[in-house]
Amino acid sequence: MIGIAVVGAGAWGKNHIRVFSELPNVHLKYICDSDPSKLMDLQKIYYRSKLVDNLKPIISDPDIKGVVIASSASSHFPLAKEALLVGKDVLVEKPMALNVGDAEEMAKIAEERECILMVGHLLIYHPVFDRLKEMIDSGELGRVHYIYTQRVNLGIIRQDENALWSFAPHDLSVILGLLNERPVVVSAHGESYIQKNIEDVVFLSLHFADGKMANIHLSWLDPHKIRKITIVGSKKMVVFDDMEVSEKLKIYDKGVSSLSYDSYGEYLSLRFGDITIPNIKMAEPLRAEADHFIHCMQTRAQPRTGARDAVEVIKILVAAQQSIKQKGIPISL
Ligand SMILES: NC(=O)c1ccc[n+]([C@@H]2O[C@H](COP(=O)([O-])OP(=O)(O)OC[C@H]3O[C@@H](n4cnc5c(N)ncnc54)[C@H](O)[C@@H]3O)[C@@H](O)[C@H]2O)c1
Repeated sequence: MIGIAVVGAGAWGKNHIRVFSELPNVHLKYICDSDPSKLMDLQKIYYRSKLVDNLKPIISDPDIKGVVIASSASSHFPLAKEALLVGKDVLVEKPMALNVGDAEEMAKIAEERECILMVGHLLIYHPVFDRLKEMIDSGELGRVHYIYTQRVNLGIIRQDENALWSFAPHDLSVILGLLNERPVVVSAHGESYIQKNIEDVVFLSLHFADGKMANIHLSWLDPHKIRKITIVGSKKMVVFDDMEVSEKLKIYDKGVSSLSYDSYGEYLSLRFGDITIPNIKMAEPLRAEADHFIHCMQTRAQPRTGARDAVEVIKILVAAQQSIKQKGIPISL
């Protein structure tokens, strides 16, 4: 049995607790939260786990091989660092850290100690992500022109991270993962309406060296709950709508073609082809993420969402935050 501890038993940490408690060959030995009121209801359900309010018993227990950190964003760096320094493998929630220096230090410690450091970029474990990646890599979409994503709803309003840091790691990890390249310029606009200096709404733009573009709309102050990614390619267009219960992916055989006539020059024709809804077997992304963490712990394989990928995400977040402060000026990466 692999000994695991989950740190942070808040709204999202409870999902990690459930998923890790259900994995075969895993013993969820500790559940930790610095706020004891968060632990009260859990004892009855997870009676095989020890409930603790700090990391000390976890890091000093040799049975614990992996620590899952799902606490507030500002605690990710100190908690992960403490666990890595004693040789534990770590799965840390997004955002991995709140600045590039901390993120790079975490990656370096993990490399030096040969620990697994995986980041909770959940959408990479979504079955639709794999299909999108296949479509791009095989050329089915043609050349990707641009991508736009919408991650908006009302709440949860956080105090230690803004809408950019709370939501954008998901979109950024997907965009970087799909395109397999980094943007060269980032610009962003955002405003704080509810709490001072904590942006509730952000529009973030990424520009790539070859002219590809991505736009990300993030908000926790919006009447709609939207979780959508649209990719426009030169051959086809595709929409991943995670709010749809079953038909999450729609492939539009639509586009613009140039028709060449010898003596009449070049014409453009719009193509309105079929819309395909592939049948993709759904599985809970968090369960896939947890399975992958255990697999990496057992095989020492590098995670699909490793620390170095997360450092790239943090670099973009930092540049975007700088752009927001300066009213949207483009920041080169
Ligand atoms: N991957 C995803 O899809 C996803 C979804 C939601 C949240 N998250 C991330 O998960 C993290 C937690 O989010 P949440 O919604 O559960 O927040 P939350 O505020 O509901 O819970 C955070 C918990 O961490 C505890 N905590 C804070 N500092 C601690 C410390 N030093 N030691 C132990 N416990 C500590 C708090 O007491 C609280 O119970 C955030 O980083 C958030 O961005 C990820």
